[in-house]
Amino acid sequence: MNITFFNSKVYDKQFFTEANQAHGHRLEFLEVSLNENTCVLARGATAVCAFVNDTLNAPVLRGLAEAGVQLVALRCAGYNNVDLAVAAQQELRVVRVPAYSPYAVAEHTLALILALNRKTHRAYNRVREGNFALTGLMGFDLNGKTVGLIGLGHIGLITARILKGFGCRVLGFDVQANPEAEALGVEFTSLENLYSGSDIISLHCPLTPQTHHLINDASIAQMKDGVMLINTSRGGLIDTQAVITGLKTEKIKYLGIDVYEEEGNLFFEDLSGKVIQDDVFMRLLSFNNVLITGHQAFFTAEALHSIAQVTLQNITDFEQGQPLINEVKS
Ligand code: NAI
Repeated sequence: MNITFFNSKVYDKQFFTEANQAHGHRLEFLEVSLNENTCVLARGATAVCAFVNDTLNAPVLRGLAEAGVQLVALRCAGYNNVDLAVAAQQELRVVRVPAYSPYAVAEHTLALILALNRKTHRAYNRVREGNFALTGLMGFDLNGKTVGLIGLGHIGLITARILKGFGCRVLGFDVQANPEAEALGVEFTSLENLYSGSDIISLHCPLTPQTHHLINDASIAQMKDGVMLINTSRGGLIDTQAVITGLKTEKIKYLGIDVYEEEGNLFFEDLSGKVIQDDVFMRLLSFNNVLITGHQAFFTAEALHSIAQVTLQNITDFEQGQPLINEVKS
């Protein structure tokens, strides 16, 4: 099958070419993002392979259908960027990779927590400058602290397991029960209790209309003074302006984010030679207790290998008329 990849990077080409040896599809790797202007480039392909910040709104989906595309294969877990109702109208099927390496994201979550707490990002720079003073670098023991996890699916559960290993008390909120998490000792509670009782809050739920700006002025007001907030899920879960206010008043003492609401204009590109136009993002960067990574939580060799394998298997299943176990529908 002909597959056109949008937003592809060197590492996508490497891992997909390797995994394709078992499938024999014809892969075309485009560096451009998928949007209203570029969807026409999919002409001749039966499937397109898209990533987190590609646009899959109504005009793009109609454009893809007109170009003869039948399948949208997302090489990611989240599908908040796809208008599923329009995809269904256009008879475009949509598949994703539900859990390629939840360990990658859970471990990155801990990397953010630990670095923010012990100020590793600041210590690294100080030591390179020959400054070995410890003033301003004091952290706290994670052992005994309470961590609230919102969303206890694949990633949330593994994060909980790691935190338990650190000796943390883990509070959880999810719209679904998770017996495995309960067995691990996660204490499920209301959002209000989670906000007021947690020293650290970490987001692991999907971005949906219900979770959009879940973290806003009202929810921040309910949190402990000096809370640490971590988001490795999707940028839209956080109202960035509200979080900036929380940082300025020191209600939020630490912020670690791997995702940002307007990341589509920034992340995955080398903009080091350009002037960044996003003033909100630049304000975030100005706080020394804010640690931002550019949507790299998933980025391990194991995850890339798994993403390529599952994506190509999804496409082969479609080609062979097999059930699509990783299909997403409206
Ligand atoms: P999952 O589907 O296994 O778990 C999500 C959990 O959130 C489910 O238990 C679900 O019931 C819960 N949930 C849904 N709506 C909720 C709500 N309103 N409030 C509380 N909980 C709610 O997904 P998984 O694999 O754990 O991934 C979680 C998120 O992580 C994804 O949606 C994606 O946005 C993000 N992600 C980020 C990556 C990165 O590189 N930064 C990589 C992979 C995923």
